Amino acid sequence: MQKINIYKIFPSGIFAMIIVLFIFTCSAAPQQTNYKSFYPGQIWLDTNGKPINAHGGGILYYDSVYYWFGEHKIAGPAGNKAMVGVHVYSSSDLFNWEDMGIALPISDDSTNDIAKGCVLERPKVIYNKMTGKFIMWFHLELKSQGYASARTCVAVSDSPAGPYKYLYSFRPDAGEWPINVTEEDKIAAKDNYLERDFEGGQMSRDMTLYVDSDGEAYHIYTSEENRTTHISQLTSDYLKPGGKYMRVFINRNMEAPAVFKHDDKYYYIGSGTTGWDPNAARSASAPSIWGPWKELGNPCVGDDSALTFHSQSTFILKVPGKENAYIFMADRWKPQNPIDGRYIWLPIQFNDGKLVIEWKDEWDLGWFDGLK
Ligand code: DGJ
Repeated sequence: MQKINIYKIFPSGIFAMIIVLFIFTCSAAPQQTNYKSFYPGQIWLDTNGKPINAHGGGILYYDSVYYWFGEHKIAGPAGNKAMVGVHVYSSSDLFNWEDMGIALPISDDSTNDIAKGCVLERPKVIYNKMTGKFIMWFHLELKSQGYASARTCVAVSDSPAGPYKYLYSFRPDAGEWPINVTEEDKIAAKDNYLERDFEGGQMSRDMTLYVDSDGEAYHIYTSEENRTTHISQLTSDYLKPGGKYMRVFINRNMEAPAVFKHDDKYYYIGSGTTGWDPNAARSASAPSIWGPWKELGNPCVGDDSALTFHSQSTFILKVPGKENAYIFMADRWKPQNPIDGRYIWLPIQFNDGKLVIEWKDEWDLGWFDGLK
């Protein structure tokens, strides 16, 4: 067969130009996305072809639309500080996400609680049916104070994607004892952080929000120097702690809480406390939000399960309209280059009252239909 000499057809200059044009077109054009599956741990592009930037996130489902709120991270180690704010994306199918912008920007005023350079983590948004408002809570560390301030922050909006108006930051449950306090808990002693923080408010770091089927909402936060978790009921407008709270997982050093309810039973998934490094997930269940909470061990199984597949929990999404369909959402942190942190979304299975999470390279919502 006669060989075709491409250089005879195109003089070499034109050939080089075609190659350069081809490379330019490929790199300049946004990558089109039309996902039909989840690919845990892979770069996840939004509908503009840009990697989704919503870490430590949570999902709000409102009016048939999903809103994914998360920490906007930037490149380099400084990216663990809040330099931009809370990012929000929307989706109708959970696979393809449109960038809706920054729902809550940090402030350029260095005296503001959410000043540029503060630590803003794990934003969660819930909808209050009574007031018609969207309420955002997140963990806040004031600028230049490391992780010492351990505050929670509240912002509010009239529409799901924002813009959100910053209201205040504080330490929750000041001047209140938990419902399961003991007389010993009230006595000042070394390492008695509950008593130490009684007046000023309890430390509040990693957190989530949970709205129960009766409309009551709860703030679940890692407290007492990361040793003990608190579950705190909110006021009916979801804007403040209502004064009733409980200590759970006492001295178990758990963080990254996520809570959901299935078949009238409450479930918790969280982690141990090893900074940005992954550890084995923890799980627990209870007949009521107020316990008694029984630990069920690490729900992850298989390779890398002892490190939660190199990730840390952030939220559990109950998929509307599907039975027994719950998605475990977690972050694979990249502390040296936080913008490159990845998302691990996996289906939750129930086995004999326990939770089971298995790794999947690729899966879609049809997976839940196989459960019936
Ligand atoms: C683990 C927490 O879960 C994260 O949200 C963050 O606070 C890091 N620790 C900081 O080291």
